[in-house]
Amino acid sequence: MGNTSPNDATSFVLFGGTGDLAMRKILPALHEAETAGRLPHALRILIVDRSCASRADLMAWLDTCVRPHLAQSGPACAAWTRFVERIEYVRLDFSRPQDFVALRDALRDALRDTSTAHAHATREKPLYYLATGPALFVPICRALAALDLTRDARVVLEKPLGYDLQSSRQINDEVGQIFAEEQIYRIDHYLGKESVQNLLALRFGNTLFEPVWRREWVESVQITIAEQLGVEGRGEFYDSVGALRDMVQNHLLQLLSIVAMEPPHSMDANAVRDEKLRVLRALKPVPANDIDSVAVRGQYDAGVIRREAVPAYAREAGIARASTTETFVALRVEVENWRWAGVPFFLRTGKRLAERAAEIVITFRPVPHSSLGNESGRPGANRLVIRLQPDEDIRLHWLAKRPGEGMALQPVHLEIDFDRFFAPERMDAYQRLLIDAIHGRLALFVHRDEQEAAWRWVEPILRDWKARTAPPRPYLAGSWGPAASSALLARAGMCWMEEEH
Ligand code: BG6
Repeated sequence: MGNTSPNDATSFVLFGGTGDLAMRKILPALHEAETAGRLPHALRILIVDRSCASRADLMAWLDTCVRPHLAQSGPACAAWTRFVERIEYVRLDFSRPQDFVALRDALRDALRDTSTAHAHATREKPLYYLATGPALFVPICRALAALDLTRDARVVLEKPLGYDLQSSRQINDEVGQIFAEEQIYRIDHYLGKESVQNLLALRFGNTLFEPVWRREWVESVQITIAEQLGVEGRGEFYDSVGALRDMVQNHLLQLLSIVAMEPPHSMDANAVRDEKLRVLRALKPVPANDIDSVAVRGQYDAGVIRREAVPAYAREAGIARASTTETFVALRVEVENWRWAGVPFFLRTGKRLAERAAEIVITFRPVPHSSLGNESGRPGANRLVIRLQPDEDIRLHWLAKRPGEGMALQPVHLEIDFDRFFAPERMDAYQRLLIDAIHGRLALFVHRDEQEAAWRWVEPILRDWKARTAPPRPYLAGSWGPAASSALLARAGMCWMEEEH
């Protein structure tokens, strides 16, 4: 069982506690943390919503709906028993501030129990996790403030935080009147991935890469998050959002900012977040009158994924007829600073693509003069491929001499497979972030300024695409997206590097 420190949250209050996200991600991650002994001994979990009639009902729901999502769910699992013992149910309607009295009482009870067990826990330190739609963020925070439940508290906000720059600002302003920035944990689960943090280790824990991590040596950077899944029962939500808001504004721009940032002076939350923010602010604005020169949007058509026929996006449940929502985005981005001036960063993401893969490819410039024949000038001969998922590895591609006569060159690679090194210690992204929030560690959460800088950059593309009546470019499910995505790179004399595994 984890030790309790004075900075730890005393209660984990999960709003939207029986929703899809809670069921698939949050509660299984908390359970994993329980199994690994990472939850503070005294932590209570309060599940707040109104879908169950009683705690007994909630227990039945946990058993039938959450348990199948657990990594270890044996019937006699001791961790499960400990886990459910921590759980209380608070039934309330989020839209009725007067209902929050029930939460206040439950927090008081929790504190009374906690204090008898731990002398230092004389103040309640709730962690409010808002796993609800963004429209409820402000009403929930206001209701908490009205009952004086925000002191010493933290609040975790799930994405999407807003719909565009204006709506995200409005939420940040209003939540910011109730909670100080250091109390607000904006979650982007990509930052909780081991592989993403490993990128920081690769860059700033080694001398090898940093000297060549700049325009003089790097020709281009590609970042891909490809999914084989479609909209998976979230059709109605996804159709109102699209890939640019769902993946680019947050996950892809966060990855880009980690690849491009300057070394922070420490891993302190402000040091890391400030450097990422500098990158986001240095993104070259997209040409508002020529969006097509830097951005491609697509929508999947019927096709085949893993040998199974899948329907077109427009035929999925919950999708508006003649929807123009994009399920694929490819972008050419530039970072306007001394380190990166002129280096194209190509980003792409999509649903129903050929593979599930998240990858960063750093392509180094060819040798300036080829003494060994043309092969040594071959584009992409030297590249570093950082694979984030499904498996985590790093490959360094280079050219070696082919054995035998003469001096023929042949591509080879060095590979480090992180699963082999670290498999038993790996933590899922949600677990890592929940544990950090419980302990009050902010470094892996997104600062308001980062979020708004990202919205500011995508805004002209959002506006342009909204104004169009023509549908996005179609692509076959199971392909790598529309041809225009390849053309975006071809115009720069480049191509997408799809790594074989
Ligand atoms: C979420 C998006 O943020 O990330 C989903 O809303 C997407 O649409 C998911 O499927 C991808 O996450 P991961 O960790 O599976 O790559």
